[in-house]
Amino acid sequence: MANAMRPAWAAIDLQALQHNTQVIRKLAGNRRILGILKANAYGHGLTRIAQALADIDAIGVARVDEALQLRNFGITRPIVLLEGFFAAEQIPILAASNIQPVIHNLHQLEQLAAAEHVSDPMRVWLKIDTGMHRLGIEPSQVSACYQQLANMPQVNGPPILMTHLACADEPEHAQNVKQLNKFAELVHPYQDSVTSMANSAALFAGIGSEYDWVRPGLSLYGVSPFAGTVGSDYALQAVMNLQASMISVRKIKAGEPVGYGAAWAPAEDTYIGIVAIGYGDGYPRHAPQGTPVWIGGRCYPLVGRVAMDMITVDLGAQLNVELGDTAQLWGRELPVEKVAAAVGTIPYELLCNVARRVQLDYLD
Ligand SMILES: Cc1ncc(COP(=O)(O)O)c(C=O)c1O
Repeated sequence: MANAMRPAWAAIDLQALQHNTQVIRKLAGNRRILGILKANAYGHGLTRIAQALADIDAIGVARVDEALQLRNFGITRPIVLLEGFFAAEQIPILAASNIQPVIHNLHQLEQLAAAEHVSDPMRVWLKIDTGMHRLGIEPSQVSACYQQLANMPQVNGPPILMTHLACADEPEHAQNVKQLNKFAELVHPYQDSVTSMANSAALFAGIGSEYDWVRPGLSLYGVSPFAGTVGSDYALQAVMNLQASMISVRKIKAGEPVGYGAAWAPAEDTYIGIVAIGYGDGYPRHAPQGTPVWIGGRCYPLVGRVAMDMITVDLGAQLNVELGDTAQLWGRELPVEKVAAAVGTIPYELLCNVARRVQLDYLD
């Protein structure tokens, strides 16, 4: 008899989250941890992850609505807005909610200087472009911006100086040394300043992790930031287990096509499992044939096209699984890094794309 069956759900392992936090805490030593929870905590559910991460020093998000969602939920820890405010109207809201913006260009600086109704002066971060050339003020602007912020009535104390590495996931890349040297040179005159550089990859590679705040995102969720490796190589445990029931098992004769476009047919008679997850759940539509799907203790290849609500898996000529079994698309049994490599993407994208209709089950 089949178990009760379910469409896609994600079992979120909060013990694994705590474990990863401890691994990171150990690596970070006495540095403070800004845990990155943007994009719905990389798909894991913003508020519950923030609540579970009581042990980190501050939370980083990318959007004002994410920060306010946390405040409305009762999270009182410092929150850093990684791209700062997008409009001057947001400044009083941030000040009233004790949300710390990152200032990354002169336009924001001017908006802040002109802001009225700032109830409490804000702590701000100043992002410096040391070579990524995306966000951040120019090195030549650091001195003026620092002085201006340090003296602004809207701002509480000197800014925290931060930068972001372009190539931390390739520790040997020459760009890392360039950015490290640039940052060291730029922050040198501000010996008493608080500083920040390292994301997960930089922290695990020991690049710039000596600065006061480290900013891990991916590693909190148990995922390796380095291509060709998995979280367990760094003692991390997968937090998200994306799963769905196998809602049908069919015997298919050699040459009979399966799914949309009749895109795949078995060379020999085989069993096909239909798993209740598809691109409507965030499973990548372009996942190629052979992408692994874990069912009942081993991996089977995805075959045919990914549909909105279903995928098809070749179970082979000898059936070792049964209707109602739980398939794991990624998680503890099947690292998301391996699925991402098979699909030609990065784990970040797979995690963030998990759709709203996928129920998140939190396991304490
Ligand atoms: C400024 C900044 N710091 C830290 C992180 C966290 O990076 P990771 O998830 O690779 O640890 C991000 C994420 O993109 C970021 O934008």
